[in-house]
Amino acid sequence: MTEPKRYLITAALPYANGPVHIGHLAGCYLPADTYVRYLRALGKDVVFICGSDEHGVPITIKAKKEGVSPQQVVDKYHQIMQDAFRDFGIDFSFYGRTSSTVHHQTAAEFFKNLYENKVFVEEVTRQYFDVEAGQFLADRYITGTCPRCGNPSAYGDQCEKCGTSLNPTDLINPKSALSGNTPVLKETKNWFLPMGEIQQSEAFQSYIKRFENWKSNIKGQCASWLNEGLQSRAMTRDLDWGVPVPVEGAEGKVLYVWFDAPIGYISATKEYFDSLGKPEEWKTYWQNEETSLIHFIGKDNIVFHAIIFPMMLMTHGGYNLPVNVPANEFLNLEGDKISTSRNWAVWLHEYLMDFPGRQDELRYVLTAISPETKDSEFTWKDYQTRVNSELVSIFGNFVNRVAVLIHKYYEGLVPDSPGLIDEKLVAANAVLERDIRQSVTKMNDLLDQVRLRDAQAEWINIARAGNKFLADTEPWKLIKTDPESVKTLLFNALQVCSKLAIGASVFLPKTAERLFNMFGLNNRSWNMLDEEVLVHSGQRIQTPEILYKPVEDGEIETQLNRLAEIKKVQESVPQKATLHELKPAITYEDFDKIDLRVGRVLEAERVPKADKLLKLTVDLGFEKRTILSGIAEYYQPDELVGKLVTVVANLAPRKIRGIESQGMLLMAGNDFGKLYSVSPEKDIEPGSVVK
Ligand code: MF3
Ligand code: ZN
Repeated sequence: MTEPKRYLITAALPYANGPVHIGHLAGCYLPADTYVRYLRALGKDVVFICGSDEHGVPITIKAKKEGVSPQQVVDKYHQIMQDAFRDFGIDFSFYGRTSSTVHHQTAAEFFKNLYENKVFVEEVTRQYFDVEAGQFLADRYITGTCPRCGNPSAYGDQCEKCGTSLNPTDLINPKSALSGNTPVLKETKNWFLPMGEIQQSEAFQSYIKRFENWKSNIKGQCASWLNEGLQSRAMTRDLDWGVPVPVEGAEGKVLYVWFDAPIGYISATKEYFDSLGKPEEWKTYWQNEETSLIHFIGKDNIVFHAIIFPMMLMTHGGYNLPVNVPANEFLNLEGDKISTSRNWAVWLHEYLMDFPGRQDELRYVLTAISPETKDSEFTWKDYQTRVNSELVSIFGNFVNRVAVLIHKYYEGLVPDSPGLIDEKLVAANAVLERDIRQSVTKMNDLLDQVRLRDAQAEWINIARAGNKFLADTEPWKLIKTDPESVKTLLFNALQVCSKLAIGASVFLPKTAERLFNMFGLNNRSWNMLDEEVLVHSGQRIQTPEILYKPVEDGEIETQLNRLAEIKKVQESVPQKATLHELKPAITYEDFDKIDLRVGRVLEAERVPKADKLLKLTVDLGFEKRTILSGIAEYYQPDELVGKLVTVVANLAPRKIRGIESQGMLLMAGNDFGKLYSVSPEKDIEPGSVVK
């Protein structure tokens, strides 16, 4: 591939309905920023675009909950998010927002273009309508019983309990979240992107060849979408918050949020160049083949960026398609999914209150555990360990020792470098040079491949090599016997510090800034990593300062206590069992058909590849049964052995995963994840009749 002339890098536009947490940062903003800093350090022409996604149902739901207008919600969070990104050094060229006029115009024009090119298919479908509220209901505004697992509060697009994706019409007993009423089906016309058709087109088929070089998590997801065959998707919705659909007969409809939001990248680029007084320049970044377009996103955004948005760009024509879509997996927190609604998160603005000025520490840890290929986990203990034993002990310590010695021996003036004679010193110096060269080469390769986690590890290896060099040569001892050699040793060590500063400029911008000032480094370009001398003899370096404070046990405890508090609140919220509608009445004869027996669990084991199932051997007194039960998430196999249970003993056998299940256990369960066995109160022999 020929070198692109310039880059347009985007990071997913976050929904403006909550503050930013570490999951967001690790998901795409930090990797995008790190990569952009690398490109800039290489002297590349880069525009880095992001902004707030201010449409979409989550925002209207939030507004409803808080009793304010959607505009008030997005105004508030747009500011908070923008501040958080700035505080953490996420250095966008421009941070836009989709409620802006430029965006509304750009999105509307884009839609009109596809409309006039006859790309869309108009279709009348029946959608749920709330008569009392007088409006169509977004999928998220309809709740009902999941047809799959019986969860009574499933959403119109998904059951969060069993994970099934749903259509609103799949729900049993649908209810409008607006009024609580049963919605009616009403006909409405919308404009669909015929994705199945576009999938067959030559342009699309040639585009997807690019997936070959993309990360396997993206390739995999896209392959499965494409293999299933893509379905048309409505690009307009019957809602009142969003960009109005700019065609006749579309009153009361807005653009689908996933149609308008990615166009936000284009609008923000326009606004950026408008602000620079070059209103035509955005085209160079979007419509010129010598520009590389790269989207940084989280894994839940893959289909939209790798398939739908490219289809939009392609059917419009004239636009570049992405050359890469580096998507990260998810970051978990202390053993649990990060969740805004459950307040299970480390919020960036709260982190800064507890750890003022310590942004780079968090950046370092989040890159070190970046979920690049699989989900990963943030724990406070691990945060403390990484900061203390890597940033403080390896990197900070090395830089500090070198600066302190130069101040102590030469009053802060960089010594000259008369050379080394002693064989042992010459050898140590050769090892240092080799190690640094190797780490720099690896780091560059990894950065080129957007493998930032490993790239950062190579960066810290440079400091490791520096520490080893000091330990092997011991300049503090040598100063008495061979002060000439010490000059060279410290001169060389200082060059390593300078290289570390340049490396830091992509991962830890605040740290880099401090080091650049401390060493008086003016040329900060990445090419300096290949130079031998970055700081010259006679230059003055400033008084060394401690780069990082070690993280104290107490600080970690405070954070863990806060999380424990949140868990406690979650668990103590008095939860009323959901009202399940009573099934129709049965007669005693109906009931009497069921043969319930007491059984004793003799053995219990997990069923391979079935997360929910346990295979039990149950003694019914007169015989032993194999019973499969979907309780693996609630019971450890060991806990069950020896326990008395109630068995539906005359249930017709059923094969599950190739194993015949000969009965069923009775369980009491609520909708909040509790499930307990219904067992006799006192010990009684297996086989006893439950009546
Ligand atoms: N707001 C979406 C989310 O947070 C991301 C939108 S990315 C864009 O998941 F491309 F649509 F802008
Ligand atoms: Zn379900």
